[in-house]
Amino acid sequence: MALLFLCLLSLSVAVVAEDAFIGVNIGTDLSNMPSPSQVVALLKSQQIRHVRLYDADRAVLLALANTGIRVTVSVPNNELLGVGQSNATAANWVARNVVAHVPATNITAISVGSEVLTSLPNAAPVLVSALQFIHSALVAANLDTQIKVSTPHSSSIIIDSFPPSQAFFNHSWNSVMVPMLKFLHSTNSYLMLNVYPYYDYIQSNGVIPLDYALFRPLPPNKEAVDSNTLLHYTNVFDAVLDAAHHAMADLNFTNIPIVVMESGWPSKGDSSERDATVDNANTYVSNLIRHMLNNTGTPKYPGVPVSTFIYELYNEDLRPGSVSERNWGLFEPSGVPVYTLHLTGSGLVLANDTTNQTYCVAKEGADRKLLQAALDWACGQGKVDCSPLLQGQPCYNPNTVEAHSTYAFDSYYHQMGMASGTCYFNGVAAVTTTDPSHGSCLFPGSGGKNGTFANGTLLAPSSNFSHREGGELGTCVYLNSNTLVCV
Ligand SMILES: *[C@@H]1O[C@H](CO)[C@@H](O)[C@H](O)[C@H]1NC(C)=O
Ligand SMILES: *[C@@H]1O[C@H](CO)[C@@H](O)[C@H](O)[C@H]1NC(C)=O
Ligand SMILES: *[C@@H]1O[C@H](CO)[C@@H](O)[C@H](O)[C@H]1NC(C)=O
Ligand SMILES: *[C@@H]1O[C@H](CO)[C@@H](O)[C@H](O)[C@H]1NC(C)=O
Ligand SMILES: *[C@@H]1O[C@H](CO)[C@@H](O)[C@H](O)[C@H]1NC(C)=O
Ligand SMILES: *[C@@H]1O[C@H](CO)[C@@H](O)[C@H](O)[C@H]1NC(C)=O
Ligand SMILES: *[C@@H]1O[C@H](CO)[C@@H](O)[C@H](O)[C@H]1NC(C)=O
Ligand SMILES: *[C@@H]1O[C@H](CO)[C@@H](O)[C@H](O)[C@H]1NC(C)=O
Ligand SMILES: *[C@@H]1O[C@H](CO)[C@@H](O)[C@H](O)[C@H]1NC(C)=O
Ligand SMILES: *[C@@H]1O[C@H](CO)[C@@H](O)[C@H](O)[C@H]1NC(C)=O
Repeated sequence: MALLFLCLLSLSVAVVAEDAFIGVNIGTDLSNMPSPSQVVALLKSQQIRHVRLYDADRAVLLALANTGIRVTVSVPNNELLGVGQSNATAANWVARNVVAHVPATNITAISVGSEVLTSLPNAAPVLVSALQFIHSALVAANLDTQIKVSTPHSSSIIIDSFPPSQAFFNHSWNSVMVPMLKFLHSTNSYLMLNVYPYYDYIQSNGVIPLDYALFRPLPPNKEAVDSNTLLHYTNVFDAVLDAAHHAMADLNFTNIPIVVMESGWPSKGDSSERDATVDNANTYVSNLIRHMLNNTGTPKYPGVPVSTFIYELYNEDLRPGSVSERNWGLFEPSGVPVYTLHLTGSGLVLANDTTNQTYCVAKEGADRKLLQAALDWACGQGKVDCSPLLQGQPCYNPNTVEAHSTYAFDSYYHQMGMASGTCYFNGVAAVTTTDPSHGSCLFPGSGGKNGTFANGTLLAPSSNFSHREGGELGTCVYLNSNTLVCV
């Protein structure tokens, strides 16, 4: 009896330590970066309790003191060589950037380098020593049980990631991955992984369905099935996580948890980035948060929480590259949200809504027949009260299909609590922040404060960061049982 109890206890400690949390990355490549106290005020107002910094900025760490916010600090890539080559440098780094701040600032992890294997391969030989040196310094300070040490990887180091059961890490890196996993295992740490279904989708050239990347429901025949395990995958995110689990198992490591250090979707792009839209960003992030908070786990590990840091708090206007690079944020530097997450009912995480209202409108130039069909559906099966559209009623004019569908779409959207996917209507609807009300025709949601808002939004950025900038990805999906597509 006692033995059984012990076994169960240790199993549950190993696998389900605590509920998944949602955190936010704070990048700081902004021309008008808010002050540390403004950043913290935003985090508090949004009830964001976990953040990841891309460095260990002293002013930010001081502002985070006594807030209860859990902080992951980072050894930036440009300091990695020093830290990995010298125990003394590592000890100094920990003294200055960690020991000086705890316990007032609750530092819970140190992220050592960023996507080193793929973005700074010449530093790969010192990566594991860097982890070990940092850890030794924590041991010496008696902080090693409360502060985890790990290093975030791009998911592109996983080869043949679909079906997940056949995935493995690029074997060229075994000399780093094996000792790294040994280190994570022996220190009870976790694998840090950056997961970007946006890039998987973009680079698949239309082969990966957008809905599969956005966690939208798929018809069963479009679900990806792993023919070895017969597990069904309904979204790219889960497939990548299970591929990472299998890749670790391929190296004989089976019980190292995963924390997703970066995941998100850009809300704006240039003409070649048509899926970087506010609606897609909102759908992805809202669905991701719901997926996390629900402790859904993955098909291979159902119910096992996967904590995730959203990329990222602010739009970083100084980041080089395409337009989308500068538009991953949840907030503008002013603290105004880029979009209102569809999180009604998720409780947690989100504070009082401080965001602007959103509305669902007919897309400009949408096909009129499709609009009419959607309008009919909304006023019928959709149970929208369309009486304000009748002749003599406030929303009758302008008497066009576009105007009437906009009213019906917005009513439905608000009736559904602005839930993700409820402003779609076969693609003829889009979310906007502009109130379409006119004259005495008041749209649902107009006036801002009408109850259906989600409880707040999310979190933030830091400096030189790391998300995948194209290149090979090594992600494959089965579109059906016969078609394997690798991107
Ligand atoms: C710091 O965070 C850890 C992990 O969430 C938590 O267990 C601990 O209670 C926190 N410490 C303080 C002082 O808030
Ligand atoms: C590194 O320094 C720590 C103290 O910070 C010490 O405990 C450890 O033995 C040192 N390791 C090596 C390999 O020198
Ligand atoms: C594996 O890593 C090596 C070294 O970086 C790289 O040259 C090779 O292209 C990678 N293989 C795949 C399939 O990504
Ligand atoms: C994993 O374990 C198997 C069986 O014990 C062994 O054959 C294989 O070499 C191991 N792989 C690694 C990478 O250690
Ligand atoms: C949350 O989990 C419950 C029970 O596991 C499930 O029925 C529900 O569909 C999940 N919701 C989401 C949004 O995944
Ligand atoms: C929510 O907002 C109301 C009014 O704007 C304010 O009185 C209340 O304190 C806020 N609650 C939280 C938890 O921020
Ligand atoms: C959003 O709210 C901010 C602050 O309340 C306001 O300045 C801004 O004009 C609003 N934007 C829209 C599109 O309503
Ligand atoms: C808010 O909702 C209530 C009930 O749903 C409705 O009576 C009221 O008119 C709404 N107010 C605004 C400003 O939309
Ligand atoms: C917002 O969160 C508070 C506590 O976290 C909860 O009591 C309240 O019901 C939530 N409101 C909405 C609209 O979800
Ligand atoms: C970011 O990286 C660039 C070039 O890689 C470097 O010049 C710059 O100093 C870095 N910024 C920070 C804050 O580390």
